[in-house]
Amino acid sequence: MSQDNADLEARLEEQEAFEPPESFVEQANVTDPGVYDEFEENWPECWERAADLLSWDEAYDTVLEDGNAPFYEWFTGGELNASYNCLDRHVEDGAGDSVAIEWEGELGETRTYTYEELLDEVEDFAATLRDLGVEEDDVVTLYMPMIPELPIAMLACARIGAPHSVVFAGFSADALATRMNSADSEYLVTCDGYYRRGDALDHISKANEGLEGVEHEVSDVVVVDRLGDDLEHDLADNQHDYDELVADHEGSSVEPVSRDAEDMLFLMYTSGTTGKPKGVKHTTGGYLAYTAWTSHAVLDIEADDTYWCSADIGWITGHSYIVYGPLALGTTSVMYEGTPDYPDKDRLWEIVEKNEVDIFYTAPTAIRAFMKWGEEYTQNHDLSSLRLLGTVGEPINPRAWKWYYKHIGNEECPIVDTWWQTETGGMMITTLPGINTMKPGSAGPPLPGIDARVVNAQGEEVDAGQAGYVTVNNPWPGMLRTLYNNDDRFIEEYWSEYSDEEADEWVYFPEDGAKIDDDGFITVLGRVDDVLNVSGHRLGTMEIESAVVGVEGIAEAAVVGGDHEVKGEAVYVYAIPEDGYEGNEELEEQAVEGILDSIGPIAKPEEVIFTPELPKTRSGKIMRRLLEDIASGNELGNTSTLRNPDVVDDIAEQVAGE
Ligand code: WTA
Repeated sequence: MSQDNADLEARLEEQEAFEPPESFVEQANVTDPGVYDEFEENWPECWERAADLLSWDEAYDTVLEDGNAPFYEWFTGGELNASYNCLDRHVEDGAGDSVAIEWEGELGETRTYTYEELLDEVEDFAATLRDLGVEEDDVVTLYMPMIPELPIAMLACARIGAPHSVVFAGFSADALATRMNSADSEYLVTCDGYYRRGDALDHISKANEGLEGVEHEVSDVVVVDRLGDDLEHDLADNQHDYDELVADHEGSSVEPVSRDAEDMLFLMYTSGTTGKPKGVKHTTGGYLAYTAWTSHAVLDIEADDTYWCSADIGWITGHSYIVYGPLALGTTSVMYEGTPDYPDKDRLWEIVEKNEVDIFYTAPTAIRAFMKWGEEYTQNHDLSSLRLLGTVGEPINPRAWKWYYKHIGNEECPIVDTWWQTETGGMMITTLPGINTMKPGSAGPPLPGIDARVVNAQGEEVDAGQAGYVTVNNPWPGMLRTLYNNDDRFIEEYWSEYSDEEADEWVYFPEDGAKIDDDGFITVLGRVDDVLNVSGHRLGTMEIESAVVGVEGIAEAAVVGGDHEVKGEAVYVYAIPEDGYEGNEELEEQAVEGILDSIGPIAKPEEVIFTPELPKTRSGKIMRRLLEDIASGNELGNTSTLRNPDVVDDIAEQVAGE
C-alpha cells in the first residue's frame, strides 16, 4: 500500500461522520431540511405528497382512516391500478421507448424491455391469466427465479386485480405448499429451471413436489421455459407452456382494473416467532404511494436513471425496489439473474460499468463478501457512473460501510443505510441522501412523517447512548394491513407489546433492538425475537427447529444464530438424539436434509451439534443466549444458575473442536 493510500485508510478508519458530496446534493430530489417539519406539522395530509406521485382513476376522500385502529386505511375512496401506474402512464407520456427492465442473464445473455414492450407483455399475460379463469381477488402464486417473466406476471396480476404471492425460488417444495395452502391459491406460475454458476437447475420437479402438498384443487399451472433443451420435462394436464399460451394472446389489450386503494396488491410470506410463516398483506394505494415516495426521496430515482437493486424479487426488497417503486417512477430497473461471483468475482461491477448504473442498492452481506474478495475486482471497472449507494436487510458494520464508500463509491456517492421490513412495505429509518450527514453503522433518523422511537421495556424513550427497542408510534401508508386471514395474529404480533388498547393508542413493534444518539440517529442492533437474519434473509428459529425434530431419531432441538463474518448470522443447530440413536454423521445429514426439505438451502446450518442435553434454567427454559455465545465463540458468563451446568462445557468443546 502506498503512503497516500495508507493515510487515506487511516483517515477513513477514524472518520465518524460524512457529509453528502456537494455534486450529489445539487441534483438531489429532496434537499430542503424543512421536509421533516413539513411532514410533522401537516400530518397525515403530508402523505398526499406520496399519493401525488401516482395517477389515480378516482381521487381519494380521506388520507388516513383511523376509526378502526390498528386496521388503518389510507387514501380511502381512491381508485387506481398499479400496472397502469408502472407502465401505461409512462407510455402515454411519451416514454414508451425508454427502457423499463434491463435484464442480465447469468450466462451473459441480456433482454431489454422498453416501457411499451413491457406493457405489451404484461397485457398478453394478463389476457392469458383471465382466460385461464383468474378473477379479481384470486391469489396467484408465482414461484419463480430472477427471470423477466416474474415482474411481467406480477404486473399482469396487478392489472386484473389478482393479488400475487411470490414464493422465493430457493424455497423448498414444502414451503411452496404451505404458502399455497395458506393463501388458498389455485393458480401457479413457475418455470422449468434456471441457471446457477453455469449449471441448469431443475425447478419444475420441486414445484411439482410442492403441488402434491397442496390441499385444494389447483386449476392451472403455467410453466416458463427458461432452460430450453437443457431440461426435458412433461407437463401434466393442467399445466401449460407459458410461450404457447402467450402466443395465443399476442396483441391483447387488457384494460387495467380500477382497484380500491385498500384492495390487496399482494401477499408476501415472511418468518415470525412461530413455525408458521405470516402472510403479510399489502394494498394498492398506500403501498404504491409509499414505495414511489421512498424511491424518489431516498433512492433519488429519476426517470432517466439506470438503477440497480441486486436483491431477489422473491423478497420484499425486490418487490418494492426492483419492481413497484422504480417502475412507478418510470426509471430503468436492472435485474440480474445470477450470483455475484459468476463467471468471476467482478460480475456486478461489470454490470454496473456496462449499463452505466447511476444508483446501486444491495445488502451488507454482499459488501462483506466483496471486501473479502478484495478491491482488485473493482479496480478494472469504471464505476464513475454511480451517484448513490444503498444498503438494506441487516446492520452494516462501519468497516464494510467505509469499504463500500471508498471502493465502490470513490468517496463521491452518499450511502443510504435503510432500515425497514417486509411488514413496513418500504424504508422507515434512513438518512435522506441530499440532506443528512451520514454516520457509518447508524441507519439515521426516521424518515419524515415516521414516528420511530427507541424505547425501554415500559415504552419510555431511552436516553441517548442507551439500548432499547424500536417502536413506530404512528401509522404510515406502506404498512401491512393485516396478516392474511388472521387479524388476531396481526394484533398479537405487532400491536400488543406497547399499545394501550383502552386509550386507543396503537404502537407498532417491529421486534428490533436499537440505540439512539444525541442527533436522533438510530443504530439498529438486530432482532429481539426468535428470528435470524442470515445473509439478510429472515428465518424463524422455530421453523428450523420443527424441521429438525421432524427427523426420525431426533428428540429435541434448539436453533440459534452465531456470528458470521460474511453472512452476519449463521444457523447453529443443537440437537438431542432419541434413545437408541446416535448423534453421528448420518443423523447430521438427515437433520440437514430435513431443513433443506422444509425450508431450502438458505437455512442450511453452519453446524449441527449433538448433545445429550440442552442447557436449561431451573425452570426448564432453554438458555438460548448461552447457545448463541457458544456458536459465536464468545466468552461464556456465569452458568452456575443452570440446572445442568456441566453440559455447557461439553457443548462448547465440541463446537470449538469442529
Ligand atoms: C433487519 C427486509 C439493520 C431488521 C427489508 C428487520 C436491518 C429485518 C436493516 C426485516 C438495516 C433490515 N439495518 N437491520 N438497514 N434493514 N434489517 O422483513 O432486523 O426481510 O427487522 O425486510 O431485517 O427483514 P425483512
